[in-house]
Amino acid sequence: MNPVEKLAPGAPPPADFIPLIVPEIRGNEWKYVRECLDTNWVSSVGSYVDRFEKMVAERAGTRYAIATVNGTAALHIALLLAGVQADDEVLVSSLTFIAPANAIRYVGAWPVFIDAEPTYWQIDPAGLVDFIDNSCRWDGESLRNRRTGRRVKAILPVHILGHPVDLDPILEAAAKYSLPVIEDATEGLGARYRGRSLGSVGHVGCFSFNGNKIITTGGGGMLVTDNAEWAARARYLTTQAKDDPIEYVHNAIGYNYRLTNLLAAMGCAQMEQLDMFVEAKRQIARRYREALISLPGIHLPEEADWAFSTFWMYTVLIDEKESRIDSRELLRELAARKIQTRPLWQPIHRSPAHTIADNPSCPNSDALYRQAISLPCSVGLSSSAQNQVVDVLSRLLLRHDVSPV
Ligand SMILES: Cc1ncc(COP(=O)(O)O)c(C=O)c1O
Repeated sequence: MNPVEKLAPGAPPPADFIPLIVPEIRGNEWKYVRECLDTNWVSSVGSYVDRFEKMVAERAGTRYAIATVNGTAALHIALLLAGVQADDEVLVSSLTFIAPANAIRYVGAWPVFIDAEPTYWQIDPAGLVDFIDNSCRWDGESLRNRRTGRRVKAILPVHILGHPVDLDPILEAAAKYSLPVIEDATEGLGARYRGRSLGSVGHVGCFSFNGNKIITTGGGGMLVTDNAEWAARARYLTTQAKDDPIEYVHNAIGYNYRLTNLLAAMGCAQMEQLDMFVEAKRQIARRYREALISLPGIHLPEEADWAFSTFWMYTVLIDEKESRIDSRELLRELAARKIQTRPLWQPIHRSPAHTIADNPSCPNSDALYRQAISLPCSVGLSSSAQNQVVDVLSRLLLRHDVSPV
């Protein structure tokens, strides 16, 4: 068991413990949050909400940004904006945290899982285009899955681990059938695809600011878009769909999805440090690369020439045959030495929560899931802590003596 899992909430970690990712709070967070407390502007309106939205829109390069209570809520609203309805299908990555698939179910639609490609571990554009071309038909009005007969209504590529999805082929296929593209950029703030910030390349993008993300508000999210109508609708739906603020008239079912001013204040302070955080993550990735590249049985993450990755979650693959240790055993050995690591998520086509009649096979996602392990990569990871990770990992992979537990 990982040592951190044994901790009571709020308890300090053991001495010398190296966590996977912890927030970095070293800017104006206290100052801005204190200002909210001192002025009583703690709730879901306030100048920090406006400022945070502006900062994220500027960074994403979109005209509009709407703050939400978390990234999953942003995805839920994005699906509603895209017109996804009950019994529609949405093409989505199989190798991802579960939230986008859940959000698809919130609107009563069905996820269709597309496998990952083996190089950058993102949704495979060729597989997605192949599905559209060969497993769907155009009925004159909409694209339909030949097998289920259901309408395919949107595409939801998930940029995982801070590296972009290769979006151009996906956008091209989407344009052919007028399918909206919803970017799950929750792990991709600060990353770029062919020079464009993630979240701004598709029709709508979603960010998360939960505790392990590159910037955090404790919990929070943002929806970004260039579409004025969608932005207004998102603002409406996230604030209980209030049509008359005096008489409290509501013409639609809305949601209480707004971020508080208190959390937005923290978000503003975090955004001020984003460039520094991205550079820190990239430096951690460079150091890991130099130190680990020649070890047997380990494959390091690549950055495509069309990508600017933040290396948000530094993840490697362990080739069990070459290294004679599998990823889970390695995880346990590292945990026993107070180094916290993590496997990737169970691919969603395997998730008991998403057992649908006909889960497609996604062999690349399965293999990546078996082999992947994410290494400590907090923005504030010290070089001595990183050296310690490298040292223990190298000894385990080379089967040299490691200090007994
Ligand atoms: C890929 C992905 N999508 C969606 C989410 C959901 O974000 P949140 O936790 O803010 O709801 C997360 C992170 O938690 C994520 O990693």
